[in-house]
Amino acid sequence: MTWLVTGGAGYIGAHVVRSLRADGVDVVVLDDLSTGDASRIGDVPLVRASLLDRPAVDRTLAEHDVAGVVHIAAKKQVGESVADPYYYYRQNVLGQLELMEAMRAADVRRFVFSSSAATYGAPETALVTEKTHLEPESPYGQTKVVGEWLAVDAEAAHGVRSVCLRYFNVAGAATAELGDPEVLNLIPMVFERLTARERPKVFGDDYPTPDGTCVRDYVHVSDIAEAHRAAVTHLMADGESLRPNVGRGEGASVLEVLAMVGEVTGLDVTPDVVPRRPGDPPRTVASVDAIRDRFGWTAQHDLHEMVQSAWAGWLVRHPHAAG
Ligand code: WQD
Repeated sequence: MTWLVTGGAGYIGAHVVRSLRADGVDVVVLDDLSTGDASRIGDVPLVRASLLDRPAVDRTLAEHDVAGVVHIAAKKQVGESVADPYYYYRQNVLGQLELMEAMRAADVRRFVFSSSAATYGAPETALVTEKTHLEPESPYGQTKVVGEWLAVDAEAAHGVRSVCLRYFNVAGAATAELGDPEVLNLIPMVFERLTARERPKVFGDDYPTPDGTCVRDYVHVSDIAEAHRAAVTHLMADGESLRPNVGRGEGASVLEVLAMVGEVTGLDVTPDVVPRRPGDPPRTVASVDAIRDRFGWTAQHDLHEMVQSAWAGWLVRHPHAAG
């Protein structure tokens, strides 16, 4: 029984491959290596191809006798998606459609999908439950909503069972080598400023939150990977389709994250407070009852472990950063 992991050579994908392999699941990775890196997955078979390369996807499903698909390959930069929505619909929506058509042709009916808290947009509730209205604020978030719709409709028409995992703010690394190489989110952006001997930026401190900075639900990438493993187990046991949040159910503000970076790195993290970044909601924190009740999954790693492991990964790529 082999599972296909699309995007398995990427930051999150490689962690998912690692968790599945540790659980004895055979894996084949399909990745175009646009942001992925083959060295992350060791000797796991890799098909270097885009999801839009239908013959390659067909061949992969057939040659590896694939029992289910974990679909992680996607574009994920909110700003880029606003500037070029067609590209995001092509890569994310069309890519998923090609994949699901290939799954239908190969009679593969188990599907785990990387969804996102971006599907909720700017929720007004203290804790975001899965019943919260989906109102994405970017083309990126829209493509994740469409992806969930596609999964729902695939079940009605073709009996595909799916788990759509709505990730909150992913951070950290299982090993330094598996750290996030991109600088797209708060923790690596702070590291980058510190490495350049510049003050970290805080995008607004006048939000309606306890310390005035935005609150997010940060969750360790190893916990995210374990949630995928649980989803695979659930689908292998013919479990029903689900769309759970994946977070810790606890918020941390930008200033709290900065303080943790100071503690871990020993560097001065006094920030420059700059104007708000357009589109940032004040607070997004997950209700995590659904995933705990259905999978028995709860996050095992705290913010300290996220920042510490992310810093270890950063130092591998920027050895002079600490000095
Ligand atoms: C977190 C907070 C910033 C950098 C995004 C996507 C979401 C998901 C995860 C993909 C915000 C503040 C940041 C800095 C700061 N992506 N910040 N100074 O915006 O919650 O979520 O990434 O799947 O879809 O929208 O994450 O890490 O960019 O920002 O003050 O230098 O940190 O304003 O409040 P975000 P983020």
